[in-house]
Amino acid sequence: MFKIRTNRGEVFDTYGQSILEALQHNNVYLPVSCGGKGSCGRCKVRILEGKVTSRSYFGVTEIEKKDGYILACQSYPEGDILVEIPQKLITVSERISKVKADIVRKIFSKNVQLFQPLVKRLNLSVTPPTIEDSRADFDRLLEAIGRKLKITRKDGEQLADYLRQKRWSINVATQDDEIISFLETEEKIYALALDIGTTTVALALIDMEKGEIIDVASCYNSQIAYGDDVITRIVYAIENPKGLENLRKSIVNDINALINTLLIRHKDGEILYVVISGNTTMCHLFWGLNPKYIREEPYVPVFNHYPLWRASDGRVNLKNNVPLFTVPSVAGYVGGDIVSGVLATEIYKDEEIGLFIDIGTNGEIVVGNKDWLVTASTSAGPCFEGSGISCGMRATEGAIEAFSFDRERDTFEIKVIGEVDPIGICGSGMIDIVSELFKSGIIDQKGRLLQDSSRYVDLVEGELRFLISENCYISQADIDNIIRAKAAIYAGILTVLQEVGINENDISKVYLAGGFGEFLDVKKAIQIGMLPNISYERFVFLGNTSLTGAILCLLSRDLKNKAEEIAHKMTYLDLSRSKLFMDEYVSALFLPHTDIERFKIHSD
Ligand code: FES
Repeated sequence: MFKIRTNRGEVFDTYGQSILEALQHNNVYLPVSCGGKGSCGRCKVRILEGKVTSRSYFGVTEIEKKDGYILACQSYPEGDILVEIPQKLITVSERISKVKADIVRKIFSKNVQLFQPLVKRLNLSVTPPTIEDSRADFDRLLEAIGRKLKITRKDGEQLADYLRQKRWSINVATQDDEIISFLETEEKIYALALDIGTTTVALALIDMEKGEIIDVASCYNSQIAYGDDVITRIVYAIENPKGLENLRKSIVNDINALINTLLIRHKDGEILYVVISGNTTMCHLFWGLNPKYIREEPYVPVFNHYPLWRASDGRVNLKNNVPLFTVPSVAGYVGGDIVSGVLATEIYKDEEIGLFIDIGTNGEIVVGNKDWLVTASTSAGPCFEGSGISCGMRATEGAIEAFSFDRERDTFEIKVIGEVDPIGICGSGMIDIVSELFKSGIIDQKGRLLQDSSRYVDLVEGELRFLISENCYISQADIDNIIRAKAAIYAGILTVLQEVGINENDISKVYLAGGFGEFLDVKKAIQIGMLPNISYERFVFLGNTSLTGAILCLLSRDLKNKAEEIAHKMTYLDLSRSKLFMDEYVSALFLPHTDIERFKIHSD
C-alpha cells in the first residue's frame, strides 16, 4: 500500500491501482475520453516526488517526460508519490445546485401536468406465440403497446432472444414514436442535460422517472486552446484545414469524458436522451457545422432549429440511437442557452416586464414579458468564468467566492468554496474584490491599483498586484479586464432598455444567471457599475440557467415545445453597430461609471 498526495492537498492510499484508478476511487476525475486505455493522452499529470512505473507514454513529449509528466492511466506508484494535477484537467463533480433543483421543483409543483418526461418506461406483458398464433415477435410487441412504434435494426436484432429470456414480460423505453431501448426491470432511465459554454461544459444526470437531478459534473471547454471567445474559434475553424474537426474533437472529447465520469458513479441505469443547450457557435462546433457565416454580416447560422440528430451523429459515447435535442437559437449571437434561460425564468409568462442577464463569456440580455421579448448580446469576455485572469477559476472547490476588506485595520476576509485553502478566484469573488478595493480607496475610479495604499499591494514581476494568499492575487491587468467586462454588460443592458423605450424603473424583476456558483452579491455588482441601479429586492440569482433550461426540456414535452416557440418569438437587436452601445461602453469604463449620479442610491 502506498500513499498518493496531490498538489491540491488530497492524500489517499492505493493498492496496486493505476494512478488514474486511485484518483477516480477518491472522486478526483480527469477528462479520460479513451476510458483509461492509454490512447487519448488526456490524463497527463506530473510526478513531483516519488517513483512510478509507466507502461506507455502516448502523447507525452520527451521534454514533458524529463519534466516528470506521465499518463495517469498507464502508471503505477512504486512508493509514496506526490502528483501535480493541472487545474484545467480536473473534471469537477459539483454540488447539485440548490438553486437549480429549486427552480425545477417550483416549476413542476406549480403545474404538475407539465411533468411529461421525453422518455417513458412501458411495462409490458407480451402474448407468447402458440401453434395457432404464429404472428411475428414485433407484431406481438406492438399489440402489447397498443400503437405503432419504430424500432432500430440493432434492437430488432435482439428482440427475439430478449422476449424469450424475459418470458414475455418486458420493460421498454420509448420516446415519441420509437422504442429506444429494452430495459432490465430495476434499470433506471437516465437522461443528460448538457450545457456547452464557451468556457465551461456542464452535464447534469437526470432520473427521468423521478424528475430528479442525480449528479452534476463540469470541466473547462478544451477548445480554449484554440481561442478564448467564439470569434477566435470561428476564425480558427475556417482558416485551418482541420480547424473545424479539431474544435469538434475537443468538445466531443470533453463531453465523453464527463459522461464517463458520471457513468463510473451511476451504473444502475441507461442514458437514453440528451438535451444540448449552448450558444449558436458552440452548437455548430459540436455538430461540426460550418460557423463561417455567423461571423460575417448578416451573421447567419446554418441552423437555428436543429433536426433531432442521434448520439452516433454527435459522436457521443452513448447508444447510437439516443436522441440529441438541441435547444433552438434565436440568432448567430443569441443561442439556445438564452432560450433555456428564458424558460427557467418564466418571463415569457409574466404580465410585468422582466430583465434576464446571462453573464458568461458573452453577456446576453433579454427584456420582455408574455407579449414580447427582445434580446441582445455583448462580448463581455470570459473573465467571470475564470479565464484570462491570473488566478481566475470556475466557481468550484478552492475558489474565493466572497471578499470583504477592513480599511481601518488594512485586513481582509475571504470565503472559499468548500472551506479549503484558496486556489483561485471565481466571478463573484472578482466582483467582491474590485468593489471592496474601490470602496477602500485601493483602486481608484479609473481602476488603477494604488501603490502604498495597502500592505497587500506589491510590485511583482513588473506589475502591481493585490496579494491575497501565497499563490492567489489580483493584478492590474486582471482589474482592467474585469472593468472592460462589466462595462460591456452594463452598456448592453442600458442600450436594450433604451431601444425598447423603457428605463430601469419599468423592470419588475431582474434574473441573473452565470457560473457564479450559489452566490453573487448584487449590491457589489451594482457598486462596480456592472448592473443597473435597481433596488436589490428585485434581483433573483438563478445560477447556470442554460443547464436548468435543458433539464426542463428533458422533463416536459410542453416546455420543450415552449423553447421552440420562445426562439421564434424573440426579436434580436444587433449591438455591434450601435453608436448608443459604444457611447455607453466608453462611459462605463470607470468605477462605477463616468456618471456617478446613476449609482448614487446604492453606492454610498
Ligand atoms: S490516455 Fe486516455 S485516459 Fe490515459
